[in-house]
Amino acid sequence: MSVAEQSIIGAEDRSPGLMDSSVGRKVVMALTGVILFGFVTVHMLGNLTSYMGAEAMNHYAEFLQTMIHGGGIWVFRAVLLTAVVLHIWAALSLTLTNRAARPVGYRAQQFKAATWSSRTMRWSGVILGIFIIFHLLHLTTGTVHPDFIKGNAYHNFVTGFQVPAVSAFYIVAQFCLGLHMWHGVWSFTQTLGWAHPRYDALRRNFATVLTVLVVGVNISYPVAVLTGFIH
Ligand code: HEM
Repeated sequence: MSVAEQSIIGAEDRSPGLMDSSVGRKVVMALTGVILFGFVTVHMLGNLTSYMGAEAMNHYAEFLQTMIHGGGIWVFRAVLLTAVVLHIWAALSLTLTNRAARPVGYRAQQFKAATWSSRTMRWSGVILGIFIIFHLLHLTTGTVHPDFIKGNAYHNFVTGFQVPAVSAFYIVAQFCLGLHMWHGVWSFTQTLGWAHPRYDALRRNFATVLTVLVVGVNISYPVAVLTGFIH
């Protein structure tokens, strides 16, 4: 092999791949964010069946469990789990890269402005992670539920939210979801190239309307149970 060939191969070895660049990881974060965001919106709409009564909600839950001969839910779980893992990986690795690259002598003011939103994303993300684990143990496996009946989603929903401390935790978690979603929608529309003075008001309104809708409807569930509207 000639020296020229060796140096070309060496250069290829050293050239950064897409995932080494922060742009690649931001795109991973944006695309997985869109998937998670889509799930949260559809999940919020599906839970509206609770307002139609036990039969409607249990029917919907049974449909989810049995679609595509019971395989559909596993495909959906695999996609969701992959999206969550990639989303957290991209977030952690971008944080570490940013920390390593932060120039010494940043002015205090600029530092605060640049990190406020990313710090909010980090702690709201951590609380959301804790919430999701609790939520699965609560309404999917029933491990931390006081009176879980397998296959009776409506009963589990009502008796689950009748515990005030649990409902309070759900409500706090929904506010974290709101913060995370608002910044998330704002950032992914930027990463995907829609940041332009002409579209900024549209992006802000889109993020606000969707966040208020998802958070508001989600909070209505524990409130409806605690007030006896759903029983
Ligand atoms: C107050 C708001 C919410 C309510 C009332 C609610 C209700 C439920 C119920 C009843 C189930 C069980 C369905 C069944 O097993 O048949 C469930 C599962 C689930 N929920 Fe929620 N949920 C809420 C918010 C959220 C949020 C914010 C997330 C994610 C950030 C989420 C993620 C999930 C996941 C991943 C499952 C498991 C799906 C599966 O693989 O079986 N939920 N939810």
